[in-house]
Amino acid sequence: MRVSGENLWPGELVTWSAGEVSAHADRLAAVYRAAFAAYGETDDDTAAFRHRSLPTHTGRDDFRCVVALDGDDLVGFGYGYQGAPGQYWTDRVADLAPPAVVRGWLGGHFEVVELAVLPECQGRGLGGALHDALLAGLPHPAALLSTWQYDTPARRLYLRRGWQPLAELPDATLMGTRLPLTGTARPA
Ligand SMILES: CC(C)(COP(=O)(O)OP(=O)(O)OC[C@H]1O[C@@H](n2cnc3c(N)ncnc32)[C@H](O)[C@@H]1OP(=O)(O)O)[C@@H](O)C(=O)NCCC(=O)NCCS
Repeated sequence: MRVSGENLWPGELVTWSAGEVSAHADRLAAVYRAAFAAYGETDDDTAAFRHRSLPTHTGRDDFRCVVALDGDDLVGFGYGYQGAPGQYWTDRVADLAPPAVVRGWLGGHFEVVELAVLPECQGRGLGGALHDALLAGLPHPAALLSTWQYDTPARRLYLRRGWQPLAELPDATLMGTRLPLTGTARPA
């Protein structure tokens, strides 16, 4: 399905169903590998993404994946789903975040799992456009994610778009934003 709406990147943003994601899992893994290489992610990490994370995540409630296409080339993607107890990430946050954060943010949340853009396509607003399309019109009260605890383009993107750091977990910052998004700051 073509995603309507403005973005600064001139290519095409498309929503892929769970079936389409499964069919194109190798292409998504290739983008993942290239995007995360700078962060020390290994071939084993890419294999885990391809063979464990994706097949598990596509089956979750409210799974949504938005991809960026440049002609036939897949150049970026973002995906998430509704987080729920019994899932690794939600349970980990419930265990490690302060009780007030857990009470105020967990439950019915949309979990942003991955956002990735090929290095050669970064810095042109594509990540921001994928982010906006991924969260547009969701019925969930809030979205949550975890990201690196140091300054990265991803962390800056989230802060620029109004995400709040909610808690420092042992190896990541938990961030949240209420939905629907308001006052999204687009890159200059
Ligand atoms: C995070 C990520 C998806 C962002 O993708 P992107 O396409 O570069 O995102 P944007 O172009 O929207 O924003 C990136 C930068 O480009 C700038 N930018 C965007 N459009 C621009 C334009 N038209 N002119 C100049 N600069 C622009 C933004 O201001 C931003 O600058 P900053 O990082 O200094 O704040 C990408 O860096 C990535 O794949 N990283 C590796 C994977 C990752 O970290 N994923 C998130 C895990 S939590």
